[in-house]
Amino acid sequence: MVKLIIRNLSKIYKDKRGKRSSALKNVSLNLDINGIFTLIGRNGAGKTTFIRIVSTELLPTAGKVYLDGVDVVKNPKEIRERIAVIPQEAELIPWMTARENIYAYLLWRGFSFKEAKKRTNTIIFRFKLEKYADKLPRKLSGGTKRKVLVALVISSNAKIIFLDEPTTGLDPISRKELWSVLNDLKKEHLIILTTHYLEEAEELSDYIIILNKGKLVKSGTINDIRDAIGYPYAIKIFKGFKKNIRLTGKVVKKNDGTFQIFSDEITANNLAKKLINRKVKFSINPTSLEDIFYMLVGDINKGEEHEN
Ligand SMILES: Nc1ncnc2c1ncn2[C@@H]1O[C@H](COP(=O)(O)OP(=O)(O)O)[C@@H](O)[C@H]1O
Ligand SMILES: [Mg+2]
Repeated sequence: MVKLIIRNLSKIYKDKRGKRSSALKNVSLNLDINGIFTLIGRNGAGKTTFIRIVSTELLPTAGKVYLDGVDVVKNPKEIRERIAVIPQEAELIPWMTARENIYAYLLWRGFSFKEAKKRTNTIIFRFKLEKYADKLPRKLSGGTKRKVLVALVISSNAKIIFLDEPTTGLDPISRKELWSVLNDLKKEHLIILTTHYLEEAEELSDYIIILNKGKLVKSGTINDIRDAIGYPYAIKIFKGFKKNIRLTGKVVKKNDGTFQIFSDEITANNLAKKLINRKVKFSINPTSLEDIFYMLVGDINKGEEHEN
């Protein structure tokens, strides 16, 4: 377990003309985390700002951050050896092969030539990258490049790994491949992840933070969040429903003629019984993170307009 304590964290950016934009507003957390810790939110919600502050790249305007017992604002050097970061839109160095990229990164992190070489070989083997190791990045697929970047940060001895949107822009197969890499890594590392793919966050996360316009909207395990919004179950009634039963709960009629009903346990139970008695066909599932996100902040694909 790694302790993460955040108190009233705020960040205001100022541009050259002095225009202020408030990227994080009074975010507070007190958690023992392990596995995969995921920040979700629309573009502009403050995810990257959060990652940059917690990983010591950026100073907050106000507030405190303690990661693994270290005050990261006051003592950034103390935490740096324990963390590794893949920034949003990170790229491999184009004129170096995958192997050279990993090796150079390890030298930069302070390992000796001998140790860096040994670690490079080990990680290439572990990530099954032998076939790609001696190629330049432009010869590699997007998925493989991302895998090399993950291999590179893992090759150091960092126990906390920050990955800012590592799967954005990858095709579905490469994304799934990266999921399995992350699921494997979380046994030994804490992974602090951001994504705007909600099904990915639901699939991978042990803990989820929902940010909107710089504010913390909800946090918890997916089940905590389902319970907190009061609609842990989602019933879907297929096309052709005659509305001969009164629907209780939060009812949404979709354009395709289906009904989606969000409800608590008791309502779901009663409704399911009635539907079965009337031979109405339906499915029942835990409410998806996508539906929860929509209820809390709206469509994830809409960027944010910031009012400051
Ligand atoms: N370096 C910067 N200078 C000025 N404004 C910034 C800077 N970085 C981010 N912002 C603004 O802060 C807000 C949060 O951005 P960011 O943390 O990148 O969000 P996300 O990663 O969730 O998309 C946005 O409104 C963005 O325009
Ligand atoms: Mg970002």
